[in-house]
Amino acid sequence: MASDREFNFVLLGPTGYTGKLCAEHIVQHLPTDLKWAIAGRSAEKLEQVAKDLKDANPDRIQPEILIVQLNKQELDSLTRKTRLIINCIGPYHLYSTPVVEACANNGTHYIDATGETPWVKRIIEQYHEAAKSNGAIIIPSVGIESAPPDLLAWSLVKLIREKLSVGTKEVISSIHEIKSSGPSGGTLSTILTTFETVGLQDLIKATDPFALAASSPPTDIPKPSIVEIIFETILGVRSVSDLGTLTTSPSAVADVAIVHRSSTLMREFYGPRFYFQQFLRARNVFVAFFIHIALVIGLALLVIPQVRWLVQRFVYPPGEGPKRDPSDRVEFRAVATADQDTAKPKRALGKLTFQGGLYPLTGLLLAEAAMVILTDEEKVKKVSRCGIVTPATLGEEYVDRLDRVGCRIETKLLDY
Ligand SMILES: NC(=O)c1ccc[n+]([C@@H]2O[C@H](COP(=O)([O-])OP(=O)(O)OC[C@H]3O[C@@H](n4cnc5c(N)ncnc54)[C@H](OP(=O)(O)O)[C@@H]3O)[C@@H](O)[C@H]2O)c1
Repeated sequence: MASDREFNFVLLGPTGYTGKLCAEHIVQHLPTDLKWAIAGRSAEKLEQVAKDLKDANPDRIQPEILIVQLNKQELDSLTRKTRLIINCIGPYHLYSTPVVEACANNGTHYIDATGETPWVKRIIEQYHEAAKSNGAIIIPSVGIESAPPDLLAWSLVKLIREKLSVGTKEVISSIHEIKSSGPSGGTLSTILTTFETVGLQDLIKATDPFALAASSPPTDIPKPSIVEIIFETILGVRSVSDLGTLTTSPSAVADVAIVHRSSTLMREFYGPRFYFQQFLRARNVFVAFFIHIALVIGLALLVIPQVRWLVQRFVYPPGEGPKRDPSDRVEFRAVATADQDTAKPKRALGKLTFQGGLYPLTGLLLAEAAMVILTDEEKVKKVSRCGIVTPATLGEEYVDRLDRVGCRIETKLLDY
């Protein structure tokens, strides 16, 4: 990990709900000799976070405290001092563009937990080339959106490549089980401000499955039949062998765009015809239909300013979130089909499980991704080719690290 930069990494936004959980994971699980800092705008809040971290683990090198405003001068100075930034300052589309710009220009690696596809599209358009030419690895969406489906799809593609020596034609993924205490104030504020500040055209563009593609999409994506259009697109109900009854997932837009960025960044590995879909498992077709309709109506209502104003009165404010519940858990399942020109191409099943909340999982995903970049920097640079890339480019080292902290991925070939 040798470098002439002062810090291995800086955690920006450690005073927020997600940032605190990421900091907790760092002090509980990462090497004790890391040189790191916590950075934000409020000295008082940062000192409290530092005190809590010291109480949690007094035997490690404590983080320095850096006060920083989000302007070019201070962010340039900050990003030149560190090899990597973990950024938990959101809503990202409101505050974090200058952070990405400073990292891209100064060759500093960067990780965040955004799920804001229109913003990711914008930073790719503006900073991908600068980041690439300065050797910066910039990975947005290393949270519950969209690291788990991205890694699960990558793991299935790897299994098919290793066992069958072919690419993958399709991965259908579902959130098989989810028990969550609910979203944080920061997440809700991000959803509400997205409807306020991002234009309708950009929101619609973000729903393109290849909105973030790094190279041209496959040309032979299967077209749905009339029956499929009625049941799957309009009613939101479908049944998939080994996954069960599925419906629309609130995270689908973000997840699909990220997985397709992975498949188009690493086309030779995924295969030229790779196509990914993300759903949510439902108990039966009626529940599936109800969830789909509720989601469609809910999103349509959020376009109305008065509805957003009303919602804001009843949810956590930014900085707060639900109490931790140890019974929270999440399981993703996915089925992959090998790209074989036979009547019955081989299939594979994958599972990703985590016992704990979605926000502790996000904190863990961020911290462990940072460690992969710090310890395997040259390999990640070679695989990702730098620029604005995806969690899947962190590969097996990331999967192994996650396994050691309770986020497990298993894959197997199916017999039929
Ligand atoms: N998609 C996913 O999987 C996922 C998962 C988790 C979180 N997230 C996203 O992560 C972001 C953070 O979520 P959260 O729940 O942790 O939010 P939060 O509790 O409101 O924390 C926001 C953080 O940003 C800082 N901040 C806000 N405005 C700032 C500004 N103008 N200058 C400097 N710092 C500023 C806050 O600092 P102060 O304490 O000084 O106010 C705080 O540290 C949100 O966008 C959320 O949607 C996404």
